[in-house]
Amino acid sequence: MQNSHLFTLDAKRIYTALLPTLEPSLKSLDKRDRNLFELRLERFFQNLYDGLFPIYGRKPEFEAFLGDLLTRMANAYAERPDDLKVLDIERDLTPDWFQRESMLGYVFYVDRFAGTLKGVEEHLDYIEELGATYLHLMKFIRARDGENDGGYAVADYCDVDPALGTVDDLEKLCTTLREKHISVCLDLVLNHCAKDHEWARRARAGEKKYQDYFYMFEDRSAPNAFEATLPEVFPDFAPGNFTYYEDLDKWVWTTFNEYQWDLNWTNPDVFLEVVDIMLYWANKGVEVFRLDAVAFMWKRLGTNSQNQIEVYDLLQALRTCSRIATPAVAHKAEAIVSPDDLVRYFGVGRHYGKVSNIAYHNSLMVQFWSSLASRDTRLMTHTLSEFPRTPASIAWGTYIRCHDDIGWAVADDDAAALGLSGQGHRSFLSDYYSGQFEGSHARGAVFQFNPETGDRRISGSFASLAGLEKALEEKSKKNIAYAIERILMGHALICGFGGIPLIYMGDEIGLLNDYDFAETPELGGDNRWLHRPHMDWQKAARRHEPDSVEARLFKRLVEIIRARKRTPHLNSSYDTEIVDTGHPHVFTHVRQHPLGNLLAIYNFSEEAQELSTDVLRAYGLEQPFDQLEQRFVDFSNGTLFLKPYERLWLI
Ligand code: GLC
Repeated sequence: MQNSHLFTLDAKRIYTALLPTLEPSLKSLDKRDRNLFELRLERFFQNLYDGLFPIYGRKPEFEAFLGDLLTRMANAYAERPDDLKVLDIERDLTPDWFQRESMLGYVFYVDRFAGTLKGVEEHLDYIEELGATYLHLMKFIRARDGENDGGYAVADYCDVDPALGTVDDLEKLCTTLREKHISVCLDLVLNHCAKDHEWARRARAGEKKYQDYFYMFEDRSAPNAFEATLPEVFPDFAPGNFTYYEDLDKWVWTTFNEYQWDLNWTNPDVFLEVVDIMLYWANKGVEVFRLDAVAFMWKRLGTNSQNQIEVYDLLQALRTCSRIATPAVAHKAEAIVSPDDLVRYFGVGRHYGKVSNIAYHNSLMVQFWSSLASRDTRLMTHTLSEFPRTPASIAWGTYIRCHDDIGWAVADDDAAALGLSGQGHRSFLSDYYSGQFEGSHARGAVFQFNPETGDRRISGSFASLAGLEKALEEKSKKNIAYAIERILMGHALICGFGGIPLIYMGDEIGLLNDYDFAETPELGGDNRWLHRPHMDWQKAARRHEPDSVEARLFKRLVEIIRARKRTPHLNSSYDTEIVDTGHPHVFTHVRQHPLGNLLAIYNFSEEAQELSTDVLRAYGLEQPFDQLEQRFVDFSNGTLFLKPYERLWLI
């Protein structure tokens, strides 16, 4: 089975030399399983080589490093449970499994949703009622005690937080969910680990091997040189990117909080450690890795040390390791960066389609909030139509809220194209969503004011930012109804855009801001906890009480989700094209499918709007049928009437 055309000369030489060395790892496998591993290795070895060569290829030990890597992969494959090997084959056969219109993500903190991992099983009926097929379980890997950045300061990558259960509980949960065709997504924090992690502790105790896992500097000269061009992620509670430790007498690179030490990816041992961790969780049944803070993985003097080309090489190599040893697994990149940089996380140029399967559509999220505040969709239409094309093999993660703050990633040139000042518009959005703007419906809070740039990011739950908290306080039926429609429009947007909709826990029933977080000392300083509430199961139970706010949200969201699942146009492998109708309050896009077009239309204002039906005709919709409401739409007089915040998915 030697397909020489798959290889460059050097890759072929190394592959041929290394293959026999895998014998001890593979010999326990039956012939068919062994053949499958070798087939996948042969098919993807070049991708692996291409990702790793630019990073580690100039070191004399490159070949030995590759040998070590392949052995680890072969060992993990040999240990892979049979049912997961079957899933691997299923995924080989249906590589678009995560792109399908049936996919729906639900994202939650395990403790806040269900107390423990076992508790999640007790709420499976709820998850199934919603229609979720993908669960992003947050904060179950063991983080450091005390402050831990919401779990993103990992103390042990291969252990479960004892308060939530055990590794066995996780494995069992994955098996139960898999039987129901629900995939588990796990956070893998790649840029840093906690200063309490064993690697960091041993580094601190003076072990050279582990000091090389991090970036450590004897004096301020290198940190100062880097700082000249580095932005600040947490300017408020963690200013600067380096921390001095007296016992070490060194400066350590700490992009995020002081207790999160950046990993040194120039060191091949770091790569091997992370591969082991990935393979370990994949063999427990995890199906999607959310690769956290990947933009920061490579540092380069004179730059902002984000989105460096080496990051794409490393991610391509990591992705390839999964493809070879645990092919059922997909990779999702968490890179909240500008559009041009963002599409690179799917792979462009020599990395085309090889870097990650899924990435967050940060711009769609920002533009939703921007249009909602201004009631004007022109910036949204302009920005999203400028978006670079993506490979057909990927899926966006579409979302309105997540556990993080909202940063106003509105580019100055996009704003200028609409005659707006970027800074002015970003400042308006911060005023609007922190409730300072006269007449704003939103209740949010400023996160990380940066006096240098003037940036003010925003915290707050979907419902509170969309006006529900204020409307309930005012007991205004009209405003409650508007808030509900805004939330449903957001849900429809992420379900109908193309991608995996990621519903953030609580947004299905309109959970409001949780102000109690301030009472807990280790959370009090970080107002992102405002929108990380505990699940309110009493409220959730009201989803069955007719006319309750919860029922009005949950039931209608479920209808949107059902509509999505019966609309093949929403398979992510087809393109979304933005349609500029010239209407200032309406956002429109089309999804071109062999079955015909789907035209999605959203009214972003609380006024009724009229849209000329020329646009429908232009896309061949002579007798449009709305997939959401399951009815034909009448536009015989040449005008389409849209109710406040109405959304249509016309086919
Ligand atoms: C990611 C997480 C965020 C965390 C950061 C540092 O952006 O989503 O919550 O603070 O990484 O780990």
